[in-house]
Amino acid sequence: MKSLRIGLLGLGTVGAGLVQMASGDGPLSTIIEIVGVSARNRNAARPVDISKYEWFDDPCALAANPNIDVLVELIGGANGKAKEAALIALQNKKHVVTANKAMLAEHGVELAQIAAQNGVEIRYEAAVAGGIPIVKALREGLAANKINSIMGVMNGTSNYILTEMQKSGREFASVLADAQRLGLAEADPTLDISGGDAGHKLAILSALAFSGAPDYAAISLEGIEEIEPVDLETAQFLGYAIKLIASAQAHDGKLRQSVRPTLVKLNNPIAQVDGATNAVLVNADPVGTLTFIGSGAGAGPTASAVAADLMDLAHGDARPVFSGPCIGREVFETADKNSLAAKFYVRFRVADKPGVIAKISDTLARHQVSIESFLQKPPPSTQNVAIVLTTQICNEDVLIDALHELSGLDEFVDKPLIMPLHD
Ligand SMILES: NC(=O)c1ccc[n+]([C@@H]2O[C@H](COP(=O)([O-])OP(=O)(O)OC[C@H]3O[C@@H](n4cnc5c(N)ncnc54)[C@H](OP(=O)(O)O)[C@@H]3O)[C@@H](O)[C@H]2O)c1
Repeated sequence: MKSLRIGLLGLGTVGAGLVQMASGDGPLSTIIEIVGVSARNRNAARPVDISKYEWFDDPCALAANPNIDVLVELIGGANGKAKEAALIALQNKKHVVTANKAMLAEHGVELAQIAAQNGVEIRYEAAVAGGIPIVKALREGLAANKINSIMGVMNGTSNYILTEMQKSGREFASVLADAQRLGLAEADPTLDISGGDAGHKLAILSALAFSGAPDYAAISLEGIEEIEPVDLETAQFLGYAIKLIASAQAHDGKLRQSVRPTLVKLNNPIAQVDGATNAVLVNADPVGTLTFIGSGAGAGPTASAVAADLMDLAHGDARPVFSGPCIGREVFETADKNSLAAKFYVRFRVADKPGVIAKISDTLARHQVSIESFLQKPPPSTQNVAIVLTTQICNEDVLIDALHELSGLDEFVDKPLIMPLHD
């Protein structure tokens, strides 16, 4: 095994976690030498001692430094200094190890081409699901399989919010505010709660499993902002948990990729993961269904994944950036956004007037959408009531047409919420 000289960009949660691992007595300390470090503020208080490393004010100068073999990029963000420094490192024939899902999801193809031209590697185990070795599982363990689907809970912040809403019965906004106070959600939580962060991770896993190139723009994104306590309560009554599910499914030459709130049957392992824990289910032939569960974030789990990439590089493992089971197989078209065939949960908010339920049933029947269950929640303090139904299996576009027709009626005070059921 050869020893690696690394330049470390970013000394925040993950960067400091890596310094701690490199300074300990584990295997990492014997194979890497940190040559230089760079972050925004040289004088910031840090949980680790960085005084023995050369400091670089400019991340790009460290990326180009002739004394490093590997640039470890732990700044984050799709663009800006992270991408600039990664490009410079690759052009200077240095491997890049990164935890930056946003950069890979949005610029992975460009970066992979530059890596290939320069004969170097990009490694990114930490970019998806923190400490869970899902990238390695897809690239190596399942390399001879045909992947059918990937689905999982890949965003700790939204999972924490849904878990807390479920436990306490509180509204989304109040739980989000608490999560921000506790440091479990960013000051700007948009990427986490709107599905963007899970979408970045899904783009990377899909590239490995199906397409060979991340295509973030092809992923349909829906967040958790519209979920109300009544949805969580009703879902549980029906035997489901609501999770923000990232999923990619290949069927008939088409690839469907989405991030959306989904009702998951309570006996599914994905329904059981609470808080910041991540879970990923992979269904493949001939292996069957595999479940991966573990810490999706935090200094230790994420640094562990970065360190695994460094160990691989030290072993001299080399392969194309997004090589996975798919390469040389099918070329997939993007499935139409609303063509999913599934059972659906629909929640209406309606004025409490007689005849509303009959109107809903008639309209759905005319569109050949069969209702499996119908529940009217007792009215809260307002005159509006929540009506929830679940359908039998139907096409989502047919259901949307029916709901569109209903939306013209006076009794309907809000846009209905639609979520698929995963049994
Ligand atoms: N945190 C997690 O649990 C986790 C899990 C999986 C993946 N990731 C990914 O890991 C990466 C790092 O995340 P993190 O949580 O460690 O972030 P963080 O705690 O916010 O740390 C970011 C670091 O980057 C430095 N930085 C920011 N802008 C910079 C700039 N323009 N030039 C130079 N340095 C700059 C900061 O410097 P200062 O310290 O001086 O401010 C800080 O040291 C991200 O891509 C993230 O998505 C994180």
